[in-house]
Amino acid sequence: MKVLLVNGSPHQHGCTFTALEEIAKTLSKEGIESDFFWIGNKPIAGCTACGSCLATGKCVISDDIVEEFVNKSKDYSGFVFGSPVHFASATGAMTTFMDRALFSVKKDKPFAGKPAATVVSCRRAGSTATLDQLNKYIVYSGMPMVPSQYWNMVHGSKPEEVRQDLEGMQTMRTLALNMAWMLKCFEAGKKAGIALPKYESPVRTNFIR
Ligand SMILES: Cc1cc2nc3c(=O)[nH]c(=O)nc-3n(C[C@H](O)[C@H](O)[C@H](O)COP(=O)(O)O)c2cc1C
Repeated sequence: MKVLLVNGSPHQHGCTFTALEEIAKTLSKEGIESDFFWIGNKPIAGCTACGSCLATGKCVISDDIVEEFVNKSKDYSGFVFGSPVHFASATGAMTTFMDRALFSVKKDKPFAGKPAATVVSCRRAGSTATLDQLNKYIVYSGMPMVPSQYWNMVHGSKPEEVRQDLEGMQTMRTLALNMAWMLKCFEAGKKAGIALPKYESPVRTNFIR
């Protein structure tokens, strides 16, 4: 049981990383390994809505990072997706990364049933809008959402400021405790023979008749 901590910031060791690091420390205390996955600071191409992934299960754009994440994700049982707030939203790179990573696997739904959470870092505001944005990827992918004690956000412009956000840091630790607990419950359920539900084939109604 391992957790992948996705850092959607252009800063590898900035504020978002500081929040994720606090999660990693608590997970470790709970006996759960975790790894960081940094999306980097190079441009990430946006989804071109070509639809080829619906047939192939793979994004047609080959810019490595999305493909690397999707391949790597198979080895992980839980996920935390973090982003700084840019203009009251996730960063442009994180948005395109999430769009392509989670839409391209729609055919096989490999993330379904794996617990996930999102966390955001901001100087002052726009955090709840960004959480709402990121949480939609979790729900879409069929991932049980891991709760905490408050909204999953930290405040600061530098890591040392984030570390002074005592409530934010505690929120990260509570999230990690809940992630560990959910992973252990899911593992116990699996051992007891409880499988993922067998879902109906998706119905699509576009409100055009
Ligand atoms: C282009 C840009 C836009 C930003 N927009 C916001 C914003 O809307 N609200 C806010 O509180 N902080 C905003 N910030 C500040 C960052 O969210 C904040 O410093 C964050 O903690 C940085 O995290 P990082 O070190 O992981 O990149 C913005 C920063 C940049 C570079």
